[in-house]
Amino acid sequence: MENTVHVDLGDRSYDVVIGPGLLAQAGERIVPLLKRRRVVVVSDETVAELHLETLRAGLAAAEIEMTALSLPPGEATKGWPQFSRTVEWLLDQKVERGDVVVAFGGGVIGDLVGFAAAVLRRGVRFVQIPTSLLAQVDSSVGGKTGINAPQGKNLIGAFHQPSLVLADTFVLGTLTARDFLAGYGEVVKYGMLGDSEFFTWLEKNGPLLADGDMAARVEAVTRSVQMKADIVARDETEQGDRALLNLGHTFCHALEAATGYSDRLLHGEGVAIGCALAFELSARLGLCSQEDPSRVRAHLKEMGMKTDLSDISGELPSAEELVDLMGQDKKVVDGQLTFILARNIGDAFVTGDVPSDTVLSVLKDALAK
Ligand code: GLY
Repeated sequence: MENTVHVDLGDRSYDVVIGPGLLAQAGERIVPLLKRRRVVVVSDETVAELHLETLRAGLAAAEIEMTALSLPPGEATKGWPQFSRTVEWLLDQKVERGDVVVAFGGGVIGDLVGFAAAVLRRGVRFVQIPTSLLAQVDSSVGGKTGINAPQGKNLIGAFHQPSLVLADTFVLGTLTARDFLAGYGEVVKYGMLGDSEFFTWLEKNGPLLADGDMAARVEAVTRSVQMKADIVARDETEQGDRALLNLGHTFCHALEAATGYSDRLLHGEGVAIGCALAFELSARLGLCSQEDPSRVRAHLKEMGMKTDLSDISGELPSAEELVDLMGQDKKVVDGQLTFILARNIGDAFVTGDVPSDTVLSVLKDALAK
């Protein structure tokens, strides 16, 4: 029960290996990349407590020595203070140009450590070992690395592709149900944006995935990663098609800003709600049928996910204020917002041509629900 997806980027190509038990095999997987049998691992405290010893044993089985740094868990880590701490720690460990840094954790760790690897000695190689569903299907693949600025999320960073990604699906068993479902928001996004057959498969198999069925988990991660790999291979630096991966994100970023990037709304939850809103907007604009947004919402609800704005606890700002927050998104070009809309489930496209009064009316109705 193991699959490999190849990300085809010329001399920056790499494999994403997906399956249960990869931590225990990490040494034999990583050793071909090494010039000396030593790696540095950066993780977070939660992941380290649960899984670092398994990784250490997996590396030791191939006689690879490991030193590790654990950062505090959570989005607040993804800023300058922990970033400079990480870079200086890597320098203290005497990481050389030929060495490999391992990012072992969820999206925060993958993004921060990838960026540290991008700038350390003008670039060292790194391996992603993603431990959250969101990181396995999205952030560990494609080379976007970075940290947040006070002005906004992910505003400081670099494209730096990993040399290998090991997605151990066994590790997903230690996620909370909430974190798992938040990651599932990104999985279902792939079906909605480019593969209606995958969406139908998820309608049938989503509950199995949530219940821990390993074959279903491997299949869902593989199909998601394959879609991302294909898109990244076509458009590594997001000049066009890669923006499709942002389905639901224009709404999501406004909601994340409105909830202070707090526990009130996890990123994957915002993506799911944002996708439902993007389909509603597409239907209002006559681009897709009225049934599509209903079908999207029905699946999210069946999975027990946040689907509507009323599923977010506490007060939300007005529709006008949410539109203003969208205007601060980094995807704004010449003052115009970019939306990912859909002609059908599985057929999304990028456009800047969306009347703001329609966006406003979608949000007003969503807030009134
Ligand atoms: N998470 C969107 C991208 O990697 O492009």
